[in-house]
Amino acid sequence: MHIEKHPVLGRQLHKPVTIYFNDQPYQAYTQQSVAAALMANGIKKLGVTRKLVQSRGLFCSRGRCCSCYMTIEGEDHVRSCMTEVEDGMRIYPNMDDPEVRRDIDED
Ligand code: FES
Repeated sequence: MHIEKHPVLGRQLHKPVTIYFNDQPYQAYTQQSVAAALMANGIKKLGVTRKLVQSRGLFCSRGRCCSCYMTIEGEDHVRSCMTEVEDGMRIYPNMDDPEVRRDIDED
Protein backbone atom coordinates (compact mmCIF):
# COMPACT_ATOMS: atom_id res chain seq x y z
CA MET A 1 0.00 0.00 0.00
CA HIS A 2 1.40 3.36 -1.02
CA ILE A 3 1.31 6.18 1.54
CA GLU A 4 -0.69 8.90 -0.18
CA LYS A 5 -0.60 11.51 2.55
CA HIS A 6 1.92 11.44 5.39
CA PRO A 7 0.82 13.15 8.66
CA VAL A 8 4.11 15.10 8.88
CA LEU A 9 5.51 15.18 5.34
CA GLY A 10 2.21 15.80 3.53
CA ARG A 11 1.39 14.52 0.05
CA GLN A 12 3.88 11.81 -0.91
CA LEU A 13 2.91 10.35 -4.28
CA HIS A 14 4.36 11.92 -7.40
CA LYS A 15 3.96 10.90 -11.06
CA PRO A 16 2.85 7.25 -11.51
CA VAL A 17 5.20 4.92 -13.41
CA THR A 18 5.22 1.20 -14.20
CA ILE A 19 8.06 -1.01 -13.00
CA TYR A 20 8.55 -4.72 -13.74
CA PHE A 21 9.54 -7.20 -11.03
CA ASN A 22 10.19 -10.69 -12.40
CA ASP A 23 8.57 -9.44 -15.62
CA GLN A 24 5.28 -8.60 -13.86
CA PRO A 25 4.09 -4.94 -13.98
CA TYR A 26 3.61 -2.95 -10.76
CA GLN A 27 2.63 0.64 -10.06
CA ALA A 28 5.24 2.92 -8.53
CA TYR A 29 5.72 6.68 -8.25
CA THR A 30 8.66 8.85 -9.24
CA GLN A 31 11.07 9.64 -6.39
CA GLN A 32 10.28 6.31 -4.69
CA SER A 33 13.15 3.94 -4.11
CA VAL A 34 12.88 0.56 -5.79
CA ALA A 35 12.69 -1.13 -2.38
CA ALA A 36 9.90 1.20 -1.17
CA ALA A 37 7.92 0.65 -4.37
CA LEU A 38 8.24 -3.12 -4.03
CA MET A 39 7.22 -3.02 -0.36
CA ALA A 40 4.18 -0.91 -1.27
CA ASN A 41 3.22 -3.63 -3.75
CA GLY A 42 3.54 -6.38 -1.12
CA ILE A 43 6.94 -7.71 -2.27
CA LYS A 44 9.20 -8.20 0.75
CA LYS A 45 11.66 -10.85 -0.44
CA LEU A 46 14.43 -9.10 -2.37
CA GLY A 47 16.74 -12.09 -2.76
CA VAL A 48 18.49 -14.80 -0.77
CA THR A 49 21.62 -14.92 1.38
CA ARG A 50 24.77 -16.30 -0.18
CA LYS A 51 25.66 -19.05 2.28
CA LEU A 52 22.41 -20.15 3.91
CA VAL A 53 20.09 -19.26 0.98
CA GLN A 54 17.64 -17.54 3.34
CA SER A 55 15.28 -14.75 2.31
CA ARG A 56 16.67 -11.20 2.36
CA GLY A 57 14.62 -8.01 2.73
CA LEU A 58 15.09 -4.41 3.82
CA PHE A 59 17.36 -3.96 6.84
CA CYS A 60 18.88 -0.48 7.16
CA SER A 61 16.95 1.25 4.32
CA ARG A 62 19.75 3.80 3.94
CA GLY A 63 22.50 2.20 1.88
CA ARG A 64 24.63 0.90 4.76
CA CYS A 65 24.16 -2.85 4.54
CA CYS A 66 23.85 -5.31 1.65
CA SER A 67 20.44 -6.72 2.48
CA CYS A 68 18.54 -5.09 -0.37
CA TYR A 69 20.79 -6.05 -3.30
CA MET A 70 18.81 -6.67 -6.47
CA THR A 71 19.43 -6.91 -10.20
CA ILE A 72 18.20 -3.65 -11.72
CA GLU A 73 18.32 -2.93 -15.44
CA GLY A 74 20.73 -5.83 -15.92
CA GLU A 75 23.19 -4.72 -13.26
CA ASP A 76 23.81 -7.16 -10.40
CA HIS A 77 23.99 -6.22 -6.72
CA VAL A 78 22.40 -2.78 -6.85
CA ARG A 79 21.18 -1.35 -3.53
CA SER A 80 17.44 -1.13 -4.16
CA CYS A 81 16.86 1.15 -1.15
CA MET A 82 19.12 3.79 -2.73
CA THR A 83 17.89 3.53 -6.34
CA GLU A 84 14.96 5.60 -7.58
CA VAL A 85 12.37 3.96 -9.80
CA GLU A 86 12.15 4.85 -13.48
CA ASP A 87 9.32 4.11 -15.87
CA GLY A 88 9.73 0.66 -17.44
CA MET A 89 12.52 -0.36 -15.04
CA ARG A 90 13.26 -4.13 -14.98
CA ILE A 91 13.97 -5.53 -11.53
CA TYR A 92 14.89 -9.07 -10.47
CA PRO A 93 15.82 -10.53 -7.07
CA ASN A 94 19.47 -11.41 -6.44
CA MET A 95 19.28 -15.15 -5.98
CA ASP A 96 22.94 -15.95 -6.55
CA ASP A 97 26.44 -14.51 -6.82
CA PRO A 98 27.27 -12.63 -10.02
CA GLU A 99 28.97 -14.58 -12.80
CA VAL A 100 32.25 -12.68 -12.37
CA ARG A 101 32.83 -14.28 -8.95
CA ARG A 102 32.39 -17.76 -10.37
CA ASP A 103 34.92 -16.95 -13.09
CA ILE A 104 37.48 -15.84 -10.48
CA ASP A 105 36.88 -18.90 -8.29
CA GLU A 106 37.40 -21.28 -11.22
CA ASP A 107 40.84 -19.83 -12.10
S1 FES B 1 18.59 -2.04 3.16
FE1 FES B 1 20.65 -1.73 3.78
S2 FES B 1 21.64 -1.03 1.96
FE2 FES B 1 19.54 -1.17 1.41
